[in-house]
Amino acid sequence: MPKVRVEKICSEPELYIIRVDDDRIGYFEATWDIPEGITYNAYIMKLDGAVVLFDVSKKEYTDLFMEGLRKVVDPKEITHIVVHHTEPDHTGTLPKLLEENGYRAQLIGTNFAKRFLEGFYGEKVVENFYTVKDGEEMKIGGRTFRFIAVPWLHWPDTMITYVVEDKFIFGCDAGGGYGIPETIDDSDEEVVEKYLPHVTKYIVTVIGHYHKYIVQNINKLKSLGIVESARMILPGHGLVWRKDPLRIFEHYERVGAGTPTKDKVLVIYDSMYGFVEKRMEVIIDELKKHSKKPVVYRFTDKEAPAVSDILGEVPDSEALVIGASTYEADIHPRVRYTLFEILDKANYEKPVLVVGAFGWGGVAGKKIETLISRSKFDLVDTVESRGMMSEEDEEKLREGVRKLIQWIS
Ligand SMILES: Cc1cc2nc3c(=O)[nH]c(=O)nc-3n(C[C@H](O)[C@H](O)[C@H](O)COP(=O)(O)O)c2cc1C
Ligand SMILES: [Fe+2]
Ligand SMILES: [Fe+2]
Repeated sequence: MPKVRVEKICSEPELYIIRVDDDRIGYFEATWDIPEGITYNAYIMKLDGAVVLFDVSKKEYTDLFMEGLRKVVDPKEITHIVVHHTEPDHTGTLPKLLEENGYRAQLIGTNFAKRFLEGFYGEKVVENFYTVKDGEEMKIGGRTFRFIAVPWLHWPDTMITYVVEDKFIFGCDAGGGYGIPETIDDSDEEVVEKYLPHVTKYIVTVIGHYHKYIVQNINKLKSLGIVESARMILPGHGLVWRKDPLRIFEHYERVGAGTPTKDKVLVIYDSMYGFVEKRMEVIIDELKKHSKKPVVYRFTDKEAPAVSDILGEVPDSEALVIGASTYEADIHPRVRYTLFEILDKANYEKPVLVVGAFGWGGVAGKKIETLISRSKFDLVDTVESRGMMSEEDEEKLREGVRKLIQWIS
């Protein structure tokens, strides 16, 4: 059952997290399977003569969020609301909150944020909206808040807040991940280890389409000198980073750049009656002979892995092998959709080997080949043939794997 967690993060300045733990969600953005759930994090900072709220929560959890908020502050006392990003997972409760606040608080965000908020919730919500420019500083309650635009992390509206005196970075989507960690922060290594794969999956499925901007934006923050010295990174989803704040941005950089884990090869295929599967057994065998570690996802009449999980495996793979049957003169629908999402969300310069099986006229292999050739991936070879695999096919498959391995090294 969804619940709200309210905890004090810091005494000087007085800072609280209001974290809504959403374990009811099935599909983030109505698409991505997340049995691990997600959290929506908002933060309250109490200063001299000012109460600043950073982001809010999802509309569905308005009552829960308000209940949590009231534990630390009377909503009427909020003087400023920083809107880092207007996606409704961080803004849905704004209308109700502003109503309870009596519209006293000043909203702070980018020009895009103002336009998007008005579009989502109407004019009244943006009546008291202050538009900040990239790098602009504001003095609030004796603190200096610097607002830095990080476009496409995740939307054009997105910015982060850097609190100059405390070296805090409020990142919203930047630095976030799926999952409902047992702890609020990164103090427990076990929690962090379990959480990081959910971060990768979050980055690819949510921000992956813009992954080159991840590296660009982190470089921008680094060049401003605020990353290395950050004392805390406070994202809009998942863990707060204060034991090792650099770690989360380094993780983001690796995913953004597609840095491989040694020997990991991602193998994805469908098989309706086992013909593709026989071929993939050869592929996996040959990969293992060369000390590679295949990570296998297969669509059969018994299994249908979540595409969101497959996407999370792409960035740190050295190479991909995609096997598909021809289905109504096209790529099998499961692999077709998976590939479509890989090319959109996880389009990296990595070698790919394509394997196909067909009944009367091979189409899948050629279609995949065309799609790959238009992407950043490098096509190493396509091995496609009819029905039962022959000895000659087997040799071609093994040769394909050897070529793939050469490409990696
Ligand atoms: C629903 C369905 C549609 C198919 N459409 C085609 C097709 O358009 N062209 C073709 O050559 N084979 C087609 N096939 C045959 C398969 O591509 C072929 O049997 C292949 O070896 C299947 O491998 P698998 O059993 O590993 O899925 C189709 C098979 C099924 C079940
Ligand atoms: Fe977002
Ligand atoms: Fe978000």
